[in-house]
Amino acid sequence: MNPSNRIQSLPPYLFAEVDEKVAKAKSEGKDIINLSIGDPDLPTPKPIVEKLCEAVRNPETHHYPSYAGMKDLRVEISKWMKKRFNVRFTEDEICTLIGSKEGIAHIPLGIINPGEYAIYPDPGYPVYRTSIIFADGNPIQMPLKEENKFLPDLDKLKGNVKHLKTWGNKAKLMFLNYPNNPTSSVTGIKFLKEVVDFAIENEILLCYDNAYSEMTYDNYVAPSIFEIKDAEKVVIEMFSFSKTYNMTGWRIGFAVGKSENLNLLKKVKENFDSGVFNAIQIAAIEALTNKNVEKTERQNMKIFEERRNVVCEKLDELGANFEKPKATFYIWIKVNKEKFKENPSMKFCDNAIEKGVVLTPGVGFGEYGEGFVRLAITQSKEKIVEGIERIKDLF
Ligand SMILES: Cc1ncc(COP(=O)(O)O)c(C=O)c1O
Repeated sequence: MNPSNRIQSLPPYLFAEVDEKVAKAKSEGKDIINLSIGDPDLPTPKPIVEKLCEAVRNPETHHYPSYAGMKDLRVEISKWMKKRFNVRFTEDEICTLIGSKEGIAHIPLGIINPGEYAIYPDPGYPVYRTSIIFADGNPIQMPLKEENKFLPDLDKLKGNVKHLKTWGNKAKLMFLNYPNNPTSSVTGIKFLKEVVDFAIENEILLCYDNAYSEMTYDNYVAPSIFEIKDAEKVVIEMFSFSKTYNMTGWRIGFAVGKSENLNLLKKVKENFDSGVFNAIQIAAIEALTNKNVEKTERQNMKIFEERRNVVCEKLDELGANFEKPKATFYIWIKVNKEKFKENPSMKFCDNAIEKGVVLTPGVGFGEYGEGFVRLAITQSKEKIVEGIERIKDLF
């Protein structure tokens, strides 16, 4: 069979290449410490699991869910948005997702016509670019550079969009993600206001991916982009239960936005999927409302914060080049160019696998990720330290 042009225009999937190398190393009997996983090692808090067990025994939950999600869950999300960010959205302005990945993957189909332009951050979560390609759109790369603290250069972006317009083209969609994967950089209200103004001026739908909103340290509090005046005119914001409640396998997240924007996504979803299993939605209500879950969430963040502190101290001792992250469970480390002159990301990771440690090559997140590797603190403190010790000569 001839694959579609869409499939053929996808970049090579570097992570699969890494997986193959890891499988080979394992088959040779190597003991592997995997520091590449964007999936918390800690379990889902007990009350959420127990609520799922209870809900699944009720045959009422076994039917097709509603497309937008259970009203009770959307009401709780609405309350959470008010309590957490002081922004008001009704339950009709909220839509559950089968994980935020699903929302990201579907949104371009609601707004992009073949050949139209959409902006994605590079390095970035790979689904942004792929979803634009699958909608037959034209992806516009938006570099996130170290010298700009991994924020996009908005002046340059404005220039690019203006240039497109002079040729009769329009950018219609932009993805943005802070706290950021893979760079772990964060931002604040001032920068987000500039982005919102830019989106309003250019009639661009801004898809703000806030998957790591609750994974923050050192008293940094991640904002919702809706805290910016008028953002609701142009924004759909996506949240995830995956990282906050260690629920990656459950597949549940949600999108928030005014109906005229959110309906674009809802229309696609109504035609492609049938929502999230009701029992999981009932468990998600528990996640948002149970005080013990809130306590566990805080304890878990303390565990990640301690790991981050220990790991950063160790990396500092070794002279590694990185910024101590204020959010996410990733550390974005600059590869020593003296040691790895060509294909630094991949070469570093190949050498690390040889020593029994798996890291993610930055270039897997896009061209501008070259020269970096991502270390995830999703293993016990002892394991991570052992892993870093094994690769200490590479820094
Ligand atoms: C930036 C970002 N957005 C979205 C997701 C998807 O999360 P989920 O689909 O589990 O909600 C991830 C997962 O790693 C991510 O890193």
